Amino acid sequence: MFEITVDTDQPAAEFYADLTSAAAALVDGEPDAIANMANVAALIWQYMPGLNWAGFYRVLEDELVLGPFQGKTACIRIAMGAGVCGTAAASGTVQRIADVHAFPGHIACDADSRSELVVPVFKNGAIIAVLDLDSPLPDHFGPADEAGMVNLIGAIASNLG
Ligand code: SME
Repeated sequence: MFEITVDTDQPAAEFYADLTSAAAALVDGEPDAIANMANVAALIWQYMPGLNWAGFYRVLEDELVLGPFQGKTACIRIAMGAGVCGTAAASGTVQRIADVHAFPGHIACDADSRSELVVPVFKNGAIIAVLDLDSPLPDHFGPADEAGMVNLIGAIASNLG
């Protein structure tokens, strides 16, 4: 049990700084990647507004496998290069998609999803997972969200694999 609160009523830079500190505190000293992904997914789900799915897919034997998440049940395995998550994993680049219906090959795990932010997780130079955030709101994720989540993942990546 952790006593963690993040003030959501503040500018994005401060919000993401606080969310990153909270995530770092949650994973500090804990080597189990699944436990850490579970807590970080729950943390993001609790404090980030406008989400209908938040969680991780792990890179296992050259495909993505569903990891800890919050939201509706989801696709279990995604091929590298398939959909938004597979594109992020195969390319190693952040995917910030304003309209998932316009994304070729988008995998609709939850029909409510309209926009998506996927951040690759790297450890020792290798991609080990992706963080996937979905929103039912079109164009929900802005540059500040992308920068904030990239920084958050970078701060805790060594404890996610
Ligand atoms: N929409 C994702 C699949 C994962 S679910 O949204 C949880 C994609 O296209 O990769």
